[in-house]
Amino acid sequence: MKTFEVYKLAPIEPVKASGCKIWDKNGTEYLDLYGGHAVISIGHAHPHYVEMISAQLNKIGFYSNAVENSLQEELAQKLGELSGYPDYSLFLCNSGAEANENAIKLASFHTGKKRVLAFREAFHGRTSGAVAATDNPKIQAPFNETANITFIPLNDIKAAEKELSTGEYAAVIVEGIQGVAGIYEPEKEFLVELRSLCDKLKVVLILDEVQSGYGRTGKFFAHQYSGIRADIITTAKGMGNGFPIGGVLISPMFKAVYGMLGTTFGGNHLACAAAIAVLDVIKNESLLENTTSVGEHLFAGLKGSKAIKELRGRGLMIGIELNDKYLTIRDRLMMDEKIFTGTAKYNILRLLPPLCLTKAEADIFIKAFERQIEIIDNE
Ligand SMILES: Cc1ncc(COP(=O)(O)O)c(C=O)c1O
Repeated sequence: MKTFEVYKLAPIEPVKASGCKIWDKNGTEYLDLYGGHAVISIGHAHPHYVEMISAQLNKIGFYSNAVENSLQEELAQKLGELSGYPDYSLFLCNSGAEANENAIKLASFHTGKKRVLAFREAFHGRTSGAVAATDNPKIQAPFNETANITFIPLNDIKAAEKELSTGEYAAVIVEGIQGVAGIYEPEKEFLVELRSLCDKLKVVLILDEVQSGYGRTGKFFAHQYSGIRADIITTAKGMGNGFPIGGVLISPMFKAVYGMLGTTFGGNHLACAAAIAVLDVIKNESLLENTTSVGEHLFAGLKGSKAIKELRGRGLMIGIELNDKYLTIRDRLMMDEKIFTGTAKYNILRLLPPLCLTKAEADIFIKAFERQIEIIDNE
């Protein structure tokens, strides 16, 4: 058997990693400014993380949700405290798509309604409901097409009001910052007005913080910059620092009923140990503060570069929209400078490094970026 080739692979195989560094099978060192799609939050192979997972594996790695698991309670308590949502409940699952799937389902159960309002260029995952709320027909099979989702432009409060006033909507789903689209942030006023529209019309507000959450922007959740609270928040990526886990934070207004949600693997012992270790490190190593200051350092270092059309984002979630002449820069960074970055569309570089990135490491990137601009200019 061979693998089903749905991924375009870079010709590099990482075999070892530590902090923000990766080594390939030939021993070449790379600087990781992508964190494997924003997944590595506390840094590769963090000793506390390795210790917690190893110790747990030696005790019990898995049992189903049919029995008590106090690790889930510990995780919920620590997540509530650190995220500023101590009064919410936590449902654990395995991925971002699954978290969104459950969030949409919960909103629909709660309101008894079918429709969901989503935003142009949104990405919420690839399972049935999540992909339907994703504005990309290329990844929707005919089976996923549904009249239950409507897309409107981000930040268009009039369009939101027009749709929600029909009274047909269970929920609005919005990313804390649109990631896959290329780092586009909902405006503060927009989120504030959307929040009050949802209150007025009894629509559930779902914040998808799968990419923008877990400290990535310098606050625990990106939407907290606008001062609003969501009814449901979904998380995944940074939550397990690479161990697959997703979470749904649920407002006290929702009533849990036995059997309404469920999963075999979600909330297993190993996943909880990984997620608890992540929260411990975020707190003990002040990674939110580090994210803010290193993010500002990166912004300051990149601002004004002639290669950049627009610089967007917050903290360590940065979108660099490139001028046409410099579109080859990502490949050059990877192959010539040994730095991993990500992309969005054809002209946007995405920086999503581990939150422990240092200013010295950020400077390595800034210098390499400038060097490659010079090389392109001289070709
Ligand atoms: C905002 C957002 N939501 C949901 C997902 C889906 O997460 P997963 O790939 O873990 O299913 C992603 C993945 O990129 C994402 O960026």
